[in-house]
Amino acid sequence: MEKKNIDWANLGFGYIQTDYRFVSNFKDGKWDEGVLTEDPNVVINECACVLQYAQTVFEGMKAYTTSEGKIVTFRPDLNAQRMAQSAARLEMPVYPEDKFVEAVLRTIKANEAYVPPYGSGATLYVRPYMFGSNSVIGVKPAEEYQFRILTTPVGPYFKGGVKPLTIRVSDFDRAAPNGTGHIKAGLNYAMSLHAIVDAHKQGYDENMYLDAATRTKVEETGGANFLFVTKDGKVVTPKSSSILPSITRRSLVQVAKEYLGLEAEEREVYLEELPDFAECGLCGTAAVISPVGKIVDHGKEICLPSGMSEMGPVTKKLYETLTGIQMGTIKAPEGWVVEV
Ligand code: PLP
Ligand code: COI
Repeated sequence: MEKKNIDWANLGFGYIQTDYRFVSNFKDGKWDEGVLTEDPNVVINECACVLQYAQTVFEGMKAYTTSEGKIVTFRPDLNAQRMAQSAARLEMPVYPEDKFVEAVLRTIKANEAYVPPYGSGATLYVRPYMFGSNSVIGVKPAEEYQFRILTTPVGPYFKGGVKPLTIRVSDFDRAAPNGTGHIKAGLNYAMSLHAIVDAHKQGYDENMYLDAATRTKVEETGGANFLFVTKDGKVVTPKSSSILPSITRRSLVQVAKEYLGLEAEEREVYLEELPDFAECGLCGTAAVISPVGKIVDHGKEICLPSGMSEMGPVTKKLYETLTGIQMGTIKAPEGWVVEV
């Protein structure tokens, strides 16, 4: 199979249309078989529930070319599970988890020519999503749904690759205590758009959201969980019921303990303890681990000792081990790496 003529090394995190996408429809209480189609357009009624009431959930995952030239994806069962939880919270039918994984693998395979080569620094981003597709005007869930999977080759999420980021403590809240912060609903991202545009205008790369109830605890950013390293080398991740349970973060915690012999703790992290940490990173499928060099809290600068020029040493080890597992140069725990 011949790869597409794309400048892989210089890709940003943007949408490039690929040849195939998966589509399955839910009607009369059941999902159809689903097909791969070349048509990238979605045609729905003007009053579709997704357009009026944002009834939509999604997932984010990646396909990688390993050092041996195989195409693989990472822990797709966990994305299937999280998508099921997201759908249930928005009163949407669950797309069966085994069928989800099967459809993801089929879609990647069909777009093999777009999976960036090993060592290029790029990956194929895979975006499964689902939305209420029939017309609804009273506030109630749709009865018909579409589940789709699109793919797009991507480079680093943050411009500048692994250069440490400067983030700010946001005055906007992301998620309410008993809201939808723990699921991957489109609405969580719609409400973050103003905050991110404003952060960029002020010269920041991202927002650090605090817990909405007390505004004293660190939650996450708009698109990634936090990971901190203490001055004595312990990995700390914020515990909260209103953040997305990041698959990358959960994997990194296991990598820290089992591969690097580090202590790792998931606990509440207070804003006031940030100056005590040695390193900070943003972790997620898109972000991988992006180092944070500076956190600005209303004019007060918290400069991480790891500095503004490179990743801290523990973050770097975590990054290298995780990407090594994903790219096949380090042996993966059972079930983490699934061949297409
Ligand atoms: N938090 C938010 C808000 C996200 O959008 C994402 C991205 O999926 C993550 C965290 C990281 O999750 P994962 O590692 O499963 O991609
Ligand atoms: C991902 O990491 O897959 C996400 O969905 C985050 C988004 C901000 C691109």
